[in-house]
Amino acid sequence: MSSECTWSILVMFCFILATGAHEGTVCTVRSSKGEEVLLGSNFTFSCIFNKQCSKLIFLNGTQIQYIKKKAMSMEVSVEVVNIKEFSTFSCRCEENPEPCGIDIKPGYPPDIPQNLTCVQKMNSRNVSCIWTTGRGTIIDTTCQLRVHGDLELGYESFMNATGFCHSTFPIKSSEMTQVVVWLSVSNTLGSKTSGPHTINLINIVKPSMPEIINVSCSSRWCNLHTDNHSMNLVEIQYSAVNGISDTFQTNNKSRLNISSLHPDTTYNFQIRRKVNHTAGLWSDWSQPKQKTTKEEAPDKALDVWYLQEQKPPQSKSKCFRIFWKELNISDAKGKIQSYNISVQEQKGKRHSIIVVPPSRNQSICCYNCSVSVSAVNSEGQSPVKIIQLRFPGLVAGLLSHRPLNNHSIALFWPKLDIAGTEYVVHWYPVGNIEGIQWTRVVDTTAHITGLQPQECYQVAVTALRSSGPKMATIKGISSWQSAPEQGPDPKPLGKDTKSLRVTWNEMPQKKRRGCLKKYTVYLMDKLKGDIHKFSVDHPKTQFVISGLSPDQCYNLWVTAWTDAGEGPKGTDLPFCTLSDSERILSLVILAGGVVLLACLILLCICQFSSVHRRFLCCCRGLLPIIPDPANSKCAKTYADDQSEIKFYLDQCDSSVNEEPDNVEVEEVPYPSICTYIKSFSHESSSSDGTQITKITDIMEDYISTHGAISGGEEEDEYEGEERSLDEFKFFPSTHSPFLEPLFLTGGKLTLDVVKIDCSEFLDCT
Ligand SMILES: *[C@@H]1O[C@H](CO)[C@@H](O)[C@H](O)[C@H]1NC(C)=O
Ligand SMILES: *[C@@H]1O[C@H](CO)[C@@H](O)[C@H](O)[C@H]1NC(C)=O
Ligand SMILES: *[C@@H]1O[C@H](CO)[C@@H](O)[C@H](O)[C@H]1NC(C)=O
Ligand SMILES: *[C@@H]1O[C@H](CO)[C@@H](O)[C@H](O)[C@H]1NC(C)=O
Ligand SMILES: *[C@@H]1O[C@H](CO)[C@@H](O)[C@H](O)[C@H]1NC(C)=O
Ligand SMILES: *[C@@H]1O[C@H](CO)[C@@H](O)[C@H](O)[C@H]1NC(C)=O
Ligand SMILES: *[C@@H]1O[C@H](CO)[C@@H](O)[C@H](O)[C@H]1NC(C)=O
Ligand SMILES: *[C@@H]1O[C@H](CO)[C@@H](O)[C@H](O)[C@H]1NC(C)=O
Ligand SMILES: *[C@@H]1O[C@H](CO)[C@@H](O)[C@H](O)[C@H]1NC(C)=O
Ligand SMILES: *[C@@H]1O[C@H](CO)[C@@H](O)[C@H](O)[C@H]1NC(C)=O
Ligand SMILES: *[C@@H]1O[C@H](CO)[C@@H](O)[C@H](O)[C@H]1NC(C)=O
Ligand SMILES: *[C@@H]1O[C@H](CO)[C@@H](O)[C@H](O)[C@H]1NC(C)=O
Repeated sequence: MSSECTWSILVMFCFILATGAHEGTVCTVRSSKGEEVLLGSNFTFSCIFNKQCSKLIFLNGTQIQYIKKKAMSMEVSVEVVNIKEFSTFSCRCEENPEPCGIDIKPGYPPDIPQNLTCVQKMNSRNVSCIWTTGRGTIIDTTCQLRVHGDLELGYESFMNATGFCHSTFPIKSSEMTQVVVWLSVSNTLGSKTSGPHTINLINIVKPSMPEIINVSCSSRWCNLHTDNHSMNLVEIQYSAVNGISDTFQTNNKSRLNISSLHPDTTYNFQIRRKVNHTAGLWSDWSQPKQKTTKEEAPDKALDVWYLQEQKPPQSKSKCFRIFWKELNISDAKGKIQSYNISVQEQKGKRHSIIVVPPSRNQSICCYNCSVSVSAVNSEGQSPVKIIQLRFPGLVAGLLSHRPLNNHSIALFWPKLDIAGTEYVVHWYPVGNIEGIQWTRVVDTTAHITGLQPQECYQVAVTALRSSGPKMATIKGISSWQSAPEQGPDPKPLGKDTKSLRVTWNEMPQKKRRGCLKKYTVYLMDKLKGDIHKFSVDHPKTQFVISGLSPDQCYNLWVTAWTDAGEGPKGTDLPFCTLSDSERILSLVILAGGVVLLACLILLCICQFSSVHRRFLCCCRGLLPIIPDPANSKCAKTYADDQSEIKFYLDQCDSSVNEEPDNVEVEEVPYPSICTYIKSFSHESSSSDGTQITKITDIMEDYISTHGAISGGEEEDEYEGEERSLDEFKFFPSTHSPFLEPLFLTGGKLTLDVVKIDCSEFLDCT
């Protein structure tokens, strides 16, 4: 477009100039082949001036040379060879800025029209046709479609840049089944016509784009609800995220039912339609509609395996760690919400179900039992396979292995049972039992794959024999290993004049670079400079070096070994053995320290006021200045009561309370070597008469006939007592010496036999 305008704008501009100058155009231009020329052709451009002047020719505003024909000729011309581009040629007099000129557009003549395709939209009376000439002509080209019998001369349009013509014409009569058309294309370089072309209207009917209104799905099929349509043939296309896709046609519009789908899978549906198999064109595809099929209960049993777990030895049950493999998407048939683990104990007929959230393992302690694990989704649970939890019999040294590459190892073993026995091969990185993997074979060889190089694996093969499983293990194998990356850091545990006990930490798994086999402890005598080596097998991390000389300095370091070699040393541990005199001195200091510590502890105890008093009581019982309890005031006062003795415990710390506390003690016959009274003091600021009875109640609770403690803190309805009761919490509850049962001999309490045991009291701190 801009090219077309170039000259006209220039002319208009010049015209304004020219009129201002009161002059006509200075020249006229001529092209031997017109404005539109065949691309690549030669032509002559010439200018005829209407007055004498020095004549100039420009191409795109740049002056070009020309051959003067005659000296006084009014005409100048140039031969243009092989024109390829849009070009503006112009001429003017040197003295006069007013030019004359022409735009030359190279292009092609049109080709024969071909590949006519027409479409009649359903329920439209217009037919739209597209045809092509094979290539763009570059210059303006007119397309014309003439319909036989139509009074119109033709339906015209312009060819687009890629050489396509679009024409639309109406169908005048609804009875028409055919139209005959001619096509023609023309431009200044030529014109072409083709035809007649016969169009069967029934074949060009194209239904409008259908719409899927709704999709209803079960787990295995989906039913599409579409807008109303009168077409007989529908094509359905669906694809799932997992890559499954299919296309099929149906001629039963009431059955847009897609079956054999997978549960819990998201599908994209699209449809298109057509009049029938023979007639019409396919409509455009509908907008895709997405829907997820419903879940189904998983129908595949889980692959379950178990390992023995070390658990408290006092319990009768054995403990196992149960592992299972997650179902893959197609087997799970839905989102696994939990796993139901059913534990059946054979003896007790006890049956329990443990529900665990999605995980891969679970610990179970039971005795002589079998378990099953099933995966549960919203629709149900997978079938169960019961496995007996039995400790396998161990067989040693039967397993051999050979690394295949950095990630896999071949395992071999002799037949552990009759042919056809199933073997479970499991492996996990040492220290990470959760990373367990296993495979089941009926062979006597297995390839374990997916291993990490420089990782140490524990591998075992278990023969599932009917008489009980039998297991062969290898402690540590590695597909590829190198020497450890670092050495252990030794620490002294204790030393003597002649020996040193040294320990070191287990190295972190990733620094080991394989399976550790042993450690070497190096000892260098600093004086003599000679080095001694000691080998320590792997799991041990302690070593005692003996035979050292007293009062001598050494340097010690430790290295770790894999089968691939020795790693670097860890930190140095320089140390000196004790001299004999130092040893004695250190013993003296140690003893002094212990005594000091004991004193400090005693002092601390006495700082607690509540304890303080009791402590003093105890001390009185222990020290000779304490009067004989048998002669104490309270004992004398109440000694005549045979069945029930009431006596007062003198307040040891009289500054706290002047008033004696009344404590009721029931005498209980109990066979015991040691008899003592446990009571508690009662700090009371009130002195009302009911106090005594209240305390009595409490004491009856504490000192019962069975010698057992019963609910000491139940009686918290009396505020005054709360504090003293709370004070017992100061002691670890069951070990409080004041809450120990009361033992009496012979049904009679004489204070001769009342001893107060303070040993535990002191222990409590
Ligand atoms: C254009 O002119 C050149 C040189 O004069 C000649 O070689 C060529 O064949 C001509 N091209 C046409 C299409 O006539
Ligand atoms: C002349 O100018 C047009 C743009 O106006 C450009 O496309 C064309 O290549 C130019 N022709 C030559 C020979 O430079
Ligand atoms: C059919 O074509 C005519 C002229 O091209 C146009 O005016 C009319 O809207 C068209 N009708 C339909 C239904 O497309
Ligand atoms: C016309 O159609 C034929 C076959 O359908 C094809 O081979 C040819 O390339 C088409 N021509 C153009 C110009 O598109
Ligand atoms: C010309 O029309 C054809 C057919 O409709 C279309 O595919 C093409 O993109 C059009 N080209 C341009 C440049 O518009
Ligand atoms: C799609 O179908 C479901 C059940 O079949 C219905 O509840 C829902 O309303 C429908 N939606 C539309 C847009 O028709
Ligand atoms: C589809 O057609 C039925 C009757 O054939 C009519 O009841 C219903 O409203 C129509 N639905 C639409 C969306 O046109
Ligand atoms: C179309 O489907 C309906 C029910 O969905 C069925 O009754 C009828 O037989 C089917 N027709 C054909 C031609 O398959
Ligand atoms: C879809 O087809 C399946 C079997 O292919 C059938 O069980 C189900 O009932 C059908 N659904 C509908 C809505 O017709
Ligand atoms: C297809 O539809 C057309 C028009 O409705 C009809 O004339 C023709 O017989 C149909 N063909 C078949 C195979 O049904
Ligand atoms: C799921 O696992 C089964 C075997 O258990 C296998 O046959 C199937 O191909 C797996 N499917 C996928 C999607 O991995
Ligand atoms: C899983 O165990 C729970 C707890 O006993 C039970 O309620 C639930 O029904 C079980 N799940 C299935 C699918 O049976």
